[in-house]
Amino acid sequence: MLVAEKAKRLKSEGRDIISFSIGVPNFLPGDHVYAAAREALAKDSGQYGSNRGADALLDAFIAHMEQVGMTGYTRANVATGIGAKHVIYNLAEALLDEGDAICFAVPYWTSYVDIAEIVNAKIDLLPCPATQDYKMTPAQLDAALAKKPKVFLFNNPSNPTGMVYTKAEISALADVLVKYPDTWVITDDIYNRMVFDGIGYHNFVQARPELRERVIFIDSLSKTYGMPGWRVGFMAGPASVAQAVATMNSNHITNIPEIITAAAVAALSGPQDVPTAKNAEFQAKRDQVLAALAAIPGIVCPRPQGAFYVFPDISCAFGKTHGPTGTKITNDVDLCSALLESHGVACVPGSAFGEPRAMRISYTCPTPQLAPGLSRIQQFFSELQ
Ligand SMILES: Cc1ncc(COP(=O)(O)O)c(C=O)c1O
Repeated sequence: MLVAEKAKRLKSEGRDIISFSIGVPNFLPGDHVYAAAREALAKDSGQYGSNRGADALLDAFIAHMEQVGMTGYTRANVATGIGAKHVIYNLAEALLDEGDAICFAVPYWTSYVDIAEIVNAKIDLLPCPATQDYKMTPAQLDAALAKKPKVFLFNNPSNPTGMVYTKAEISALADVLVKYPDTWVITDDIYNRMVFDGIGYHNFVQARPELRERVIFIDSLSKTYGMPGWRVGFMAGPASVAQAVATMNSNHITNIPEIITAAAVAALSGPQDVPTAKNAEFQAKRDQVLAALAAIPGIVCPRPQGAFYVFPDISCAFGKTHGPTGTKITNDVDLCSALLESHGVACVPGSAFGEPRAMRISYTCPTPQLAPGLSRIQQFFSELQ
């Protein structure tokens, strides 16, 4: 928030700011999505809809999952929400009582902590630093699950690291999960279409089908289709859990509006050329960011293979001073703040994600801004003494 506020202030003062800080895809959906919304508007019923989600939307989501190998789900297994965030919140309310434990990796997506705190759950964090490529090991998971948490929350591909678990890694973690039948598994995989280098997206249920009984898969239109503000998220899992989410919807939101539903169906079922082109663009941008960071002595950066984030360990800068401004860099917030003040580049301090040795670079900015933003970061690091 500190860096975001500062970026806003500097922009309003007329400074040239390049933002690598926002977690949005920065593109709009295809024309067919808008056409479907307009058509729905023209024949809008204006009525309440299904708490779970309209049948057409549930069917489109089921077909969409089948494309990534998640087969065998029916309407009774799925439910929708106002974005993945709302679905995860509903799941936390449905699965966790006060004092129940939830465990997840650090770095984590910031809202996991907030949501767990709102429902008064006990949070057990599993540190996964850059030295282990920000990935959880099977031994680490085993030790965490031996404490019998009510929920294990997983995120793949990851925000903020962009790391993607390989088929073998998912399979090894799934082998651990089968040993602990009392733990629900929520797998937040909203970036599952944004995977690079041909490594593919893999899921615990594919690795160990018996996990279907307690794995809850989360998806969203926000990132894949450039529709974060349209607010459509999904879950697929056991029928009892999907019913609980529908019941929560019934009491919170009632339904996703008809026009949004029509646009969502069009996004899921229509031409996929926009997301496909964006994925190729993001992979090229990822390469550009990694090449720029590799040229900065001391920065350590695991190679992300998905989403649109890079999460370099910048702790080599701590204890140094930024020469031109005389700013002492003691931590990630100082660094992001000084980088913004001196060179007009906004990144998010890693402490927002529980990892204060790093910062998050989100590379969805317009392409012409990427190279100048990266050279400003290089310049900044070369000025540290
Ligand atoms: C890992 C992760 N999960 C969930 C969300 C929320 O997505 P939605 O816009 O569908 O609520 C985000 C958004 O940044 C995210 O990064």
